[in-house]
Amino acid sequence: RLDARARNAQLDAETNQLRAAMFSSVTHDLRTPLASIKAGVTSLLDTAVQHDPAQERELLTTILEETDRLNRLVGNLLDLARIRAGALTPTRQQSAMDEIVEIVLARMRSRLAGHVVTADLPASLPDVWVDPVQLDQVLTNLLENAGRHAPEGSEIQVSVLWMHGAVQVRVADEGPGIPLDERDRVFEAFYRGSSIPETPGSGLGLAIAKAVVVAHGGRIWVEEAPGGGCVVTFEIHGGDPQA
Ligand SMILES: Nc1ncnc2c1ncn2[C@@H]1O[C@H](COP(=O)(O)OP(=O)(O)OP(=O)(O)O)[C@@H](O)[C@H]1O
Ligand SMILES: [Mg+2]
Repeated sequence: RLDARARNAQLDAETNQLRAAMFSSVTHDLRTPLASIKAGVTSLLDTAVQHDPAQERELLTTILEETDRLNRLVGNLLDLARIRAGALTPTRQQSAMDEIVEIVLARMRSRLAGHVVTADLPASLPDVWVDPVQLDQVLTNLLENAGRHAPEGSEIQVSVLWMHGAVQVRVADEGPGIPLDERDRVFEAFYRGSSIPETPGSGLGLAIAKAVVVAHGGRIWVEEAPGGGCVVTFEIHGGDPQA
């Protein structure tokens, strides 16, 4: 009994430690872009400094990029808070999954310009009852990861399949992949892979993706691509829940 209590105490301590680490990592992720935005604006406003147009443009570009980064992170944190509050109910409507894929790919075109993106869509696909806004976000998060981890010039393949009344969407890349023992944990909030400490991110993208897919009664998982890259697939049964 004592043993069990000691073990629980240790588990609690570990959980607290983990929470503290997450908190400081999020604080850092929020502060870093804010600091560079402030530094950039301060420099632009400083009348004692003469900037040539190229320098000015570079500062403004940094400010824009950092603002985007901050915007994404805050959006992810708000989504996570919504999920935690149990407020993530999909607003389902009859949707065409191939259209959702095309919209996301069009929006992300410039962000994925360094990669060769291919879409493998079936000639005819039944409509599914899903929340198109939420699924857009799932796909966005998966593509963002692929773009971030797979090397420049490599292929990112999005495929949509119809299997036994369910739609499957998979994103395959030619990056380093996710080690077997991390393939479940990557879906935990704030979990970041051990092998990529240098890449930016907060470990929220896949947790949000999973919450959305599960809220649709579906599942999401990671596999290894034949060449060693990462394949993330989600599957959602598309029937009208009212029917
Ligand atoms: N395509 C991929 N290739 C290799 N590793 C990946 C890939 N996608 C996710 N991972 C691993 O899974 C971890 C969790 O991914 P997730 O999208 O949840 O967070 P993130 O990308 O680190 O940060 P965020 O999405 O919040 O910006 C990543 O840190 C990375 O280690
Ligand atoms: Mg991510």
